[in-house]
Parts: sequence; structure tokens; C-alpha cells
Amino acid sequence: MNTIRSVSDMQQWAGATREAGKKIAFVPTMGFLHEGHVALMREGKGRGDYLVVSIFVNPTQFGVGEDYEDYPRDLEGDTEKVSSAGGDIIFTPSTKEMYPSGYQTFVAVEKVTQNLCGASRPTHFQGVTTVVAKLFNIVKPQVAIFGEKDYQQLVTIRQMTRDLNFAIEIIGMPIIREEDGLAMSSRNKYLSPEERKQALCLFSALNQVEKLFQGGEKNPKKLIDRAAEIIRVQPVATIDYVKVCHPETIEDLEWIDDKALMTLAVKIGKTRLIDNRVLKN
Ligand code: PAJ
Repeated sequence: MNTIRSVSDMQQWAGATREAGKKIAFVPTMGFLHEGHVALMREGKGRGDYLVVSIFVNPTQFGVGEDYEDYPRDLEGDTEKVSSAGGDIIFTPSTKEMYPSGYQTFVAVEKVTQNLCGASRPTHFQGVTTVVAKLFNIVKPQVAIFGEKDYQQLVTIRQMTRDLNFAIEIIGMPIIREEDGLAMSSRNKYLSPEERKQALCLFSALNQVEKLFQGGEKNPKKLIDRAAEIIRVQPVATIDYVKVCHPETIEDLEWIDDKALMTLAVKIGKTRLIDNRVLKN
């Protein structure tokens, strides 16, 4: 396995690899890797001749007062994990090279970014699509793998890929959870032991909602009320949003006919956690 730091070295490797007729699979990450990331890497390994994993804590997707500075970093541990998952290249560019002074180009996907995390974090998705577009141009993959943990992000990337004609297949992978059900996240590291216990309310809320839905409840308002009730029991939990929306347009639903995305963003103490479940008949 190799670590590449410069954009031009990465582009050169990618160009030569494609010229040799090989397929590049790509997993973009912000590092502090866990089993959720590893699942994406395993999938990538099976889909390409080479697997590239990027590790870059992208400043443009963090808002003012968010955790950019504190975001956990562990390049040594990450290198170990990528290597044992069969990764071929870690691409870890510097912030200076990704965003040199005078940088002024951004990619914005307009509609699917309006609701949910786009409403709570207004500049977030523009940062995500900008960095992912740049990474696509640098790593030149034929296939890229993303997690459904960040469902709205996945939908946004699919839209950008279609709209900008990137010839890249986008694969979505299911949420990987801790044994007790908490969705794996690099941000779980911030939780104190007591907060870690209370953080389970996201998973419990999704389970209760799923039960209600499978029992015939198709009114989003009822499902939202039930989820909110479960979350509010926990003293350290504050709801950012609890919503039921269309899984492709990400618009709020008034009624569930066929399929819906139940999605939550909850602050546990100072840590903002997200989770979701697709509800299907
Ligand atoms: P990061 O949060 O590091 O996540 C990298 C990828 O791992 C994303 O596609 C995310 O959805 C996926 N992932 C995270 N936790 C997961 C879990 N528990 N189960 C399954 N997949 C999981 O998402 C980002 O970084 C950034 O926004 C990025 C796309 C790299 C752009 O900067």
C-alpha cells in the first residue's frame, strides 16, 4: 500500500492506471476510520482492480463554530485499517493544496440539499459536493462508494454525478452499527460514557417508528411524534430535526404510500449525531 500526498502524483497514478485498462474504486473519507468505512472499502475492493481511500478533513463542509478544529484525526491507525482492508492507495492531500489562496470555485446541488442537514447546516453540502467533485477529478475512479448513514449526502452526490456527467458509478452501502445499535461515526468519540448510553435513543426511536409503520401507521406526523417522545426522555438529547421525507427528492411527506426516509439529527450534549431508516411496506 502507498500513501500519496500530492494532487499531481495522485492524478499521474490514476491516469497511468486507467491507461493500463484498470478499474479504480474510490472511498472518500475524513479519516478516524471505523467499521462503517471498512465496509465501504471491502465493497470497493470487490468492484475495482485498485482501491483508493482518501483521508481529508474538508474545511469547506464545516460551518462557523462547528468541530473542524477538533475533528478526530489518526493517520497512523487509519493507515493500518486501510491496509488490512486491502486498500492500495491512501490519498491524503494538504488543505493548502486543495484550497490554495485565491480558491473561488464551488459546486452546489440545489434542491435535494434544502431540507434536513441542509436546513440546519446551510453551507455544508456545497462543501461536500465541491470536495467530492475535486476528488473525482484527482482520483479518476470508475466507481465510488458512499454510506447510507449520510443518506442526504448520498442522494446529493448521485444528483451531482448525473448533472455534471461524471462517468462514475455511485454505490450506496447500508449503515454499520455498534453491537447495541448506535450507528458508527467518527464523532461517537466525543461522547462521555453517560452520553454514549443516552445516544441509543436515536436507534430506539427508529425501531419504534418502524414497528408503528409496519403495524399500519402511514401518517408521518404520528411517526415523528413517537420518535420525538422517545428522544426527549433523555436529558442530554436535543432534537435538531425528526423528519419523514421522500427518499429521492428529500421533500417532507404528508402521507406514506410506498416508501419513506425516517431521519433524525439529535444533539447528545454537544455532539450532533444523525441516523435514518428507509421505511418500506
Ligand atoms: P466521513 O464522515 O468520514 O464518511 C465517509 C463515508 O463513510 C461516507 O460515505 C459515509 O456515509 C460513510 N459512513 C460513515 N459512517 C458509516 C456507517 N456507520 N455505516 C456505513 N457507512 C458509513 O462523509 C464524509 O466523510 C465526507 O462528507 C466526505 C464524503 C468524505 C466528503 O468530505
